[in-house]
Amino acid sequence: MKNSCVLALFAALVCVESRLIDLSHKHGPDGIMSFQMPHYNWTELFKGDFQPGMYVKVGAYSTGEHGGTHMDVPAHFSPNGMSVDQIPLEMTIADGVMIDCAYEASRNRSYLMPTQKILDWESVNGRIPDNSAVIVNFGWSQYYNSFEKFMGTKNDNIYEFNFPTLSKAAGDFLYEQRNIKIIGTDTASPDGFDASGLPIHMKYLPNNRLILEELKDTGLLPPKGFRLHASPVKFVGATGAQVRAFAIVSDTRDLECCMNGAVTTVSAFALVLLSSAFVFLG
Ligand SMILES: *[C@@H]1O[C@H](CO)[C@@H](O)[C@H](O)[C@H]1NC(C)=O
Ligand SMILES: *[C@@H]1O[C@H](CO)[C@@H](O)[C@H](O)[C@H]1NC(C)=O
Repeated sequence: MKNSCVLALFAALVCVESRLIDLSHKHGPDGIMSFQMPHYNWTELFKGDFQPGMYVKVGAYSTGEHGGTHMDVPAHFSPNGMSVDQIPLEMTIADGVMIDCAYEASRNRSYLMPTQKILDWESVNGRIPDNSAVIVNFGWSQYYNSFEKFMGTKNDNIYEFNFPTLSKAAGDFLYEQRNIKIIGTDTASPDGFDASGLPIHMKYLPNNRLILEELKDTGLLPPKGFRLHASPVKFVGATGAQVRAFAIVSDTRDLECCMNGAVTTVSAFALVLLSSAFVFLG
């Protein structure tokens, strides 16, 4: 028993590694902007020698809110809801889980993720903890360079949009049964723009939950074991804003795997300590 505790302690010290996954698309003039939102527009204000030998360049930009990798906040769907500047930082950071629907979406671009998909995920990975960020991967960020492929139509007409989304029941389940705080997809919306009436927006935003849309590379996320960060600039009065979304993934390696990897000073040191622990305890 004692030996295994010592082993576990060293395994944890030596073998937890963190890595970053960037979940944001570049926000440029050709980014996806629906609902006739104005595109990003950067213009140069000055470029040249500000003083002799001192090169300086400055610009200004403007952009519509709901386009590119962005966050929807309560003010988007609720008259008295929080605007972007009022969102507390802690609402924008959460332990995350990723539910992978890329296979289903590749066969059916109208795929509606059912509640059963969440239950299947939980039967493998355990219950989704309260206050999680749930990210659904549809494998859609590969289409981001084409409005037509991404939205399912050439026209910027919400009633023609066709891309995979979550069912109302799945959205309700995650809100009511799992009390999640952020829901995100790599499509333009977790809701379809059809007669269903945007049930996830209607439920989540007025209740101070956040929605992330047009995330990138969500398929690189592990099913669990990451922390999601998606913090916008505090734009006053804004109903949404682009975010630099990213995940910090903690990979726990077993000790054997670590020892087989590059022998770092730390792991060599741990090996020495471990041997002495065996001598001492054994
Ligand atoms: C971009 O912004 C500049 C400066 O405000 C403006 O002159 C220009 O017309 C804008 N371009 C577009 C495409 O809106
Ligand atoms: C695609 O998914 C939608 C929503 O679940 C369903 O209504 C439709 O029948 C599916 N299409 C095909 C071809 O399976």
